[in-house]
Amino acid sequence: MLAMNYRGPFRVRADHKPDPVIEHPGDAIVRVTRSCICGSDLHLYHGLVPDTRVGTTFGHEFVGIVEEVGSQVTKLKVGDRVLVPFNVFCGSCFFCQKELYGNCHNTNPQASAVGGIYGYSHTAGGYDGGQAEFVRVPMADIGPTVLPADLHEDDAVLLTDALPTGYQAAEMGDISEGDTVVVFGAGPVGIFAAKSAWLFGAGRVIVVDHVEYRLDFVRRYAQCEVVNFREVGDMAMHIKKMTDWLGADVCIDAVGCEAAGNAAQTLSGVYAMMQAGSATALHWAINSVRKGGNVSIVGVYGPTFNAVPIGNALNKGLTLRMNQASVKRHLPRLIEHIQAGRIDPKQIITHRVPLEEVADAYHIFSSKLDNCIKTVLIPPSAREVRAVASTALH
Ligand SMILES: NC(=O)c1ccc[n+]([C@@H]2O[C@H](COP(=O)([O-])OP(=O)(O)OC[C@H]3O[C@@H](n4cnc5c(N)ncnc54)[C@H](O)[C@@H]3O)[C@@H](O)[C@H]2O)c1
Ligand SMILES: [Zn+2]
Ligand SMILES: [Zn+2]
Repeated sequence: MLAMNYRGPFRVRADHKPDPVIEHPGDAIVRVTRSCICGSDLHLYHGLVPDTRVGTTFGHEFVGIVEEVGSQVTKLKVGDRVLVPFNVFCGSCFFCQKELYGNCHNTNPQASAVGGIYGYSHTAGGYDGGQAEFVRVPMADIGPTVLPADLHEDDAVLLTDALPTGYQAAEMGDISEGDTVVVFGAGPVGIFAAKSAWLFGAGRVIVVDHVEYRLDFVRRYAQCEVVNFREVGDMAMHIKKMTDWLGADVCIDAVGCEAAGNAAQTLSGVYAMMQAGSATALHWAINSVRKGGNVSIVGVYGPTFNAVPIGNALNKGLTLRMNQASVKRHLPRLIEHIQAGRIDPKQIITHRVPLEEVADAYHIFSSKLDNCIKTVLIPPSAREVRAVASTALH
């Protein structure tokens, strides 16, 4: 099959690899019809995630058609259209029983913090991902959701990560009616966090980034105010100025370990790797929120340590919440929001790229070229199926 193949930092390509096979009776093989590139993939692509092995296939956001099922699979059948959450999870361990699917205890033998994630290095279980024609889906009765007939595949693929993560970011912010919410990051996750903040009752939403086309997009898409941090001296001071000098009620970090905006953080965190990435956005979130406020973190950081102003968080009496999203928990509610027309996720898709051109797709997304917000990769087999279907219609 054709699959994205990681060759080293900043080097990926489309290659032929052996088709995945059923390795356990609970597995399914899914024929991918669409996959996305995520901001999290950029951390891998930039060589920042330990134990990212040459030859692996990334991709934790994919939808497709069930091609084959193992003998123990009862809930899926060949031909089902499914979306597969980015978490690999067992559904029955202590953590899964608490719906903390992102922290499953049975799917990542390499760590005791995060559970398994498709295509996310051997620190997240070493599973091959969905930027490919086929992918092996373990515990296939637990993770995948069969798509309702009226759910568009472009919406479905955004339900595998970006939308539920943005939604969980807003949820963890514990927003009260009328609250002012500041979202750091206008990537897909920040855009959906801003949109979700309104669903949780925010009275005012402000999004911060330095990429103008993304700020333009989120201003329209999420009807929010925007701040370009390059045009601001002191970020915390600026947010206070915008909020009667008290600070925001809720701040969301939807940036994570590659944040720009502070040379010392970038040098020590990204280039010298003396901390687990640059914690600039988190720093700003803690300092921009009001006393007693909430900080919600979904931007990803590495496992070691970061320079964050924890003393300010303590003295201000903040509540900090954070996690990998537990995608499956949010799906019923989010599908309802989509069907009711309250949110139209597919609008954020700016690029549709054949899987063969995956190297260009990574470069464009990573370098923020061509007004790129979200890229969908389409494998050749999916394009052939569509061509046959449209011929049949004529
Ligand atoms: N917790 C989870 O479950 C989960 C799931 C998906 C993604 N993520 C993480 O969320 C983060 C965002 O993902 P994405 O797909 O939107 O990525 P992205 O790279 O497309 O977006 C990040 C945005 O942050 C902006 N930015 C950089 N420095 C900033 C700063 N100091 N202040 C404000 N904005 C800044 C960038 O310009 C960019 O637009 C990543 O760290 C990703 O790994 C977490
Ligand atoms: Zn993702
Ligand atoms: Zn589990």
